[in-house]
Amino acid sequence: MQLIEDLETFLNTRSRIKEDIGLVPTMGFLHEGHKALIREARKDCSIVIVTIFINPTQFAPNEDLDTYPRNLPGDLEICEQLGVDYVFAPNSFSVLYPEGFCTFVECKIGLPETNPSSEGAFRPHFFRGVATVVAKLFNIVRPNKAYFGQKDAQQCAVIQRMVIDLNQNVDIVVVPTVREKDGLAMSSRNAYLSVEEREKATILYRMLQKAKELYTAGMLDVNRMKEELENLAAQVDGFHLHYVSICNPKTFKEYENQIPSCDTLVCVAGTLGKARLIDNILLN
Ligand code: PAJ
Repeated sequence: MQLIEDLETFLNTRSRIKEDIGLVPTMGFLHEGHKALIREARKDCSIVIVTIFINPTQFAPNEDLDTYPRNLPGDLEICEQLGVDYVFAPNSFSVLYPEGFCTFVECKIGLPETNPSSEGAFRPHFFRGVATVVAKLFNIVRPNKAYFGQKDAQQCAVIQRMVIDLNQNVDIVVVPTVREKDGLAMSSRNAYLSVEEREKATILYRMLQKAKELYTAGMLDVNRMKEELENLAAQVDGFHLHYVSICNPKTFKEYENQIPSCDTLVCVAGTLGKARLIDNILLN
């Protein structure tokens, strides 16, 4: 496995690769969720490239860019164990954002007006940063396939739309959410949770299970279902619910009245202490 930290070396190395490439973009502090993406890429592709880059353009000024957890030596060990061929980990922001950088990719699915209860609405800067850095990584790495986690459902929708709209020649593979034993979706930000908050953090998964239960029992009323889930969230002291959204998994348009018989995604998000947590489930 080779670690590359600057663009010139990476592009030189890339120009010598003729085999098919699987790309796993990450911000590091790798856990079982990331590992599932890498394993999937390892199964499918001759060459696996993992990128590790805490992307500044997807953080708002008040967010956790400076404190985002990092552990490059640990990440490299994991990548080595999983048979990754190259890790591209730019050693400064300027490797991808040189002075004068001023071009961004904006996808409507990531904008607040698409869905007022979504990541795009709660973090209005976020998907512009994600789409921009992922487009750059696609241009630099030129992968055949790229792997993303269902945990970040709106991110998957944005990337899938971007690939179509910008004619990018990459297959997007979405990998199911990897969870802790008690259902909590794995996330680098779980490291922010205290012991007490960690116990409460199962609330997101419990809300999603409740949604599934209600749907199976025949509940099709969007507002009633939201209300039930909001009531459940309100029982957890210290959990600040940001939204429950019942929407189309591709367009992220919210359903207003009735849950349709297919294509229904339930998304939940909220904070516990310093940690902002998100999760989702496909109902049908
Ligand atoms: P990061 O949060 O490091 O996640 C990297 C990839 O791992 C994403 O595709 C994410 O959806 C996936 N992932 C995270 N937790 C997961 C879990 N529990 N199960 C399955 N997959 C999981 O997402 C980003 O970084 C960034 O926005 C990035 C795409 C790298 C652009 O900067």
